[in-house]
Parts: sequence; structure tokens; C-alpha cells
Amino acid sequence: MKLPKVPYLIAIDGPAGSGKGTIAKLISDKLNLNYLDSGAIYRVIALGAIANNIPSDQVLKLISLVGTINMKFEGGDVLLNKEIITDKIRTSEISKFSSEIAVHSRLRDEILNLQRSFNQGNGLVAEGRDMTTVVFPNADLKVYLDASPHERANRRYKQLKLKGNNVNILSLTSEIEARDKRDKERKASPLKIADEAKVLNTDDLTIGQTVDKILTFII
Ligand code: DC
Repeated sequence: MKLPKVPYLIAIDGPAGSGKGTIAKLISDKLNLNYLDSGAIYRVIALGAIANNIPSDQVLKLISLVGTINMKFEGGDVLLNKEIITDKIRTSEISKFSSEIAVHSRLRDEILNLQRSFNQGNGLVAEGRDMTTVVFPNADLKVYLDASPHERANRRYKQLKLKGNNVNILSLTSEIEARDKRDKERKASPLKIADEAKVLNTDDLTIGQTVDKILTFII
């Protein structure tokens, strides 16, 4: 597919479990663009904070971790200082902690440059909660991916089951609803639909159909 301009920047936001990680990665591979999973940055800070016994409300200590982060996305993996940490940052504990620390506007400001540094001239697909609104407000294409809490919990349940985890659909649903509430109601860069965003509900779409639909938005 030929992009209308180079570098082309696609920003995708949406709630936890809307499929934006998988979709954004596939689109970046298809179009040969860089990829940024911005949630992984919050998760890496959460990982460091937990390892150093830093509580989620100690914003200055959390900020001090930012300078130590050297992250890369390679294949399907997240690398931190060359160590593969893909699974380590996907636990329920890290999900909750990362959403708690994401309320701090000072911390969010500190990671703005880190996030923007992934836009290196050959284009980018960036996904998260504030890619369309704050981090890349001039993106060429903005997409808001949505799905019902029930569908999102179901997807997560299947993923975790496949990995051999013992999970409960009701507690997954309530974890997702709690995270939605924190992400949408916080004062600092809450998850919301940008004015120019194309909104796509993926409840009844396969991953392939969602990717194809987004590609039709590129004009
Ligand atoms: O996308 P994710 O589930 O990996 O993100 C983990 C948490 O990080 C999410 O609950 C809120 C926060 N986050 C954010 O506030 N802004 C982003 N752009 C990405 C993630």
C-alpha cells in the first residue's frame, strides 16, 4: 500500500483490551512503520517502582526512574535495557499499578519526549490512551478503538487461559471496568475520543477485519 505522505503517523487510542496493541503492531508491519506501545512505558515504570518499593503516589521517585529507561519494540517483544520483559509487564499487578501512576501529570510530562522519540522519520503507529489527543495531536490518522467491557474481558480470559493461567471472568471484567474508570476519569490526559478520530467498535470484528477497516481510512 502506498502512503499518501512520508513520514505517515497513525495514532490509535482506546480502552484496555480493545485490541489496539495487536492491531497497531500489524498495521506497523504492513506499512513498514515504527511502532510504539505507549502503555508499555507506564508498565516499565510500574515494574521499576515495584522492584524498588516505590509507592504509586510518590511522583518524584517515579520520575527518577524515567531516565533509566532504554526501551525497544522488537518483533512481538518489549526489551528493557536489552532484556526481554514482554510477559513480566503483563501481570494484573503491573496493569493496576501502571494505571494508578498514569494519573500524575508531572510523570506524563516527563515521558512525552521519550514517546515522541519513536517518531524517527520513517513514520509511526502509536497506541495508548492519549496518542490522538496529547502526544501526537498532529497525527495524519487518528483512530479510537472500542469494545464492550464484556467482550474485552472475554478476550483477556482466552489469552490468559491459553498461557495456562487460572483466571476468573468476573474478576477480569471488574478489573477492566476499574481500569476504564481510572483511565477515563483522571484529570491528566484522560482517555477520550479526539474530535477528528475515526471510532471503530471491534465487538463483532476479527483482527483482520479491523486492520483492513483502518487501512481504508488512510487517504
Ligand atoms: O495500554 P496498556 O493497558 O498497556 O496501558 C497500561 C496503563 O498505562 C493504562 O491503564 C493507563 C496507562 N496509559 C496511559 O495512561 N496513557 C497511555 N498513552 C498508555 C497507557
